[in-house]
Amino acid sequence: MKKESGATLSVWMNHLKLPNTQHLRENLTCDVCVVGAGIAGLTTAYLLSKEGKRVVVLDSKEIGGGETSRTTAHLSNALDDMYYRLIKLFGTNGARLACQSHAAAIDKIEQIATDENIDCDFARVDGYQFANNRSQEEELLKELEALQQIGWDDVVLRKESPLDMLSALPCLHYPNQGRMHAMKYLAGLAKAVLDNGGQIYTHSHVSDFQLGTLATAVTTEGYAVTANHLVVATNTPVNDRFAIHTKQAPYRTYAIGVQIPKDSVPDALYWDLDDPYHYVRLQKNTTAEEEFDLLIVGGEDHKTGQHGHPIECFQNLERWTRLKFPMAQGLLYNWSGQVFEPTDSLAYIGRNPGDNDNVYIATGDSGHGMTHGTIAGMLLTDLIMERPNPWAKLYDPNRVNLKSAGTYIKENLNVAAQMKDHVTPGEVEDPMQVMPGTGRIMRKGNSKVAVYCDQDGVRYQCSAVCPHMGCVVSWNSVESSWDCPCHGSRFDPFGKVITGPTKHDLGPAS
Ligand SMILES: Cc1cc2nc3c(=O)[nH]c(=O)nc-3n(C[C@H](O)[C@H](O)[C@H](O)COP(=O)(O)OP(=O)(O)OC[C@H]3O[C@@H](n4cnc5c(N)ncnc54)[C@H](O)[C@@H]3O)c2cc1C
Ligand code: FES
Repeated sequence: MKKESGATLSVWMNHLKLPNTQHLRENLTCDVCVVGAGIAGLTTAYLLSKEGKRVVVLDSKEIGGGETSRTTAHLSNALDDMYYRLIKLFGTNGARLACQSHAAAIDKIEQIATDENIDCDFARVDGYQFANNRSQEEELLKELEALQQIGWDDVVLRKESPLDMLSALPCLHYPNQGRMHAMKYLAGLAKAVLDNGGQIYTHSHVSDFQLGTLATAVTTEGYAVTANHLVVATNTPVNDRFAIHTKQAPYRTYAIGVQIPKDSVPDALYWDLDDPYHYVRLQKNTTAEEEFDLLIVGGEDHKTGQHGHPIECFQNLERWTRLKFPMAQGLLYNWSGQVFEPTDSLAYIGRNPGDNDNVYIATGDSGHGMTHGTIAGMLLTDLIMERPNPWAKLYDPNRVNLKSAGTYIKENLNVAAQMKDHVTPGEVEDPMQVMPGTGRIMRKGNSKVAVYCDQDGVRYQCSAVCPHMGCVVSWNSVESSWDCPCHGSRFDPFGKVITGPTKHDLGPAS
């Protein structure tokens, strides 16, 4: 295996063949317009196209060009936020429904892969959640009790972890979890959408919505898709300025891929209870001549735009990996991505608060976007087909969960605290202080300016003020992007928008 360079390439992008798609160059009408060709958008488009709906999908980038190409694709209904917390937030029945919905999502992925002949390395594997200290061991016991309360009886506490180097303490053993190759799956889904008569347009950035009895998505080039229903599956909604963005917070998470000798680690999912926690899986090498498997390790999450030296997150991850997996050899990949943490732990999937009934969103995936995205496909299809769905209330984006008020207040105080950046001095006083390949914030009178210097020493300036709600962006040296610490909008070095909630680029430097 050859090492990939740079921090932006995930393990899934090697030699991947995506279906041919084009830019939108005409106005279209259809039953359902889906914005976003990640797992949430394409699962929704696929299931609706199977129902005979005329579906058009629009995406700013390539298929899977958002977070789906950066996932580690653990498929699990053992939720990171733990069922003992979910029971407090949603009651026993709500927690049970959450558990069932994620289990159903894994089943759905397996079924779609089978039905559509998608060779995506899907496998059922066991999951092991291990404790690193006595207090975490107690937390596992508490979780086991909660699992029994919601009726998940086949999870057991094992005296030892299946890998003694992971921990000498007990672990919870979850049967029937899963893993897959995220982009092979997405490519297969996209092909199935096209085979079912759906249309997918890539490099078609939606910059405006016109909403009413019909909903229209308008691209930057001015082409429009008008539909009876609009699904905004852009990871974080780009059609919503305020409501949802106060209920979820953006976090950056990191992943690495290291070689390990073939069959030296059992094919399973492993994760711990540290804060931030670590998650591990294998990408098995199925070719006889290869001597190595790939161990994929993720974690080291932090609030977007609020870590001064993100490269340290890779270093910490590698250090942790070599400690827990001493057989680890060459580092082949490192990449990072963004996840949205809902303040009450579950995704927001359903009708968009404050809009007409024909506008839907799917967001707040936390670290479970493969299953949340699949739940979105199933749930939104039922809503559009006017069928009841047992999970609709649980995931309703309109819900207000007073029991999560503490987290809500904490995250929004953190957002408010970012406003101080408007009055602080710049990181540099002169553009010439910005080194090649980096970006820095500079004060210019009353405004803040984002200065980027390319590898040839040419300096570019744009406004450092995020067009969403006015926070000051910060330089992400790992991704070479400007990231907004408030709600997670991201921009390339020249200020072009990469990720919402904003649909707009950074303005000119004033
Ligand atoms: C490092 C990492 C590890 C992870 N590991 C796991 C895991 O093990 N298991 C798990 O379940 N989840 C995991 N996740 C989470 C999961 O990957 C995501 O939650 C999921 O992929 C999100 O899918 P999505 O379809 O909602 O969004 P995306 O895949 O981001 O798709 C949204 C699409 O919308 C497009 N878009 C955005 N704005 C516009 C616009 N204005 N116009 C047109 N198109 C637009 C984007 O280009 C993008 O393609 C991980 C995430 C990361 C970053
Ligand atoms: S993303 Fe909301 S202010 Fe930048």
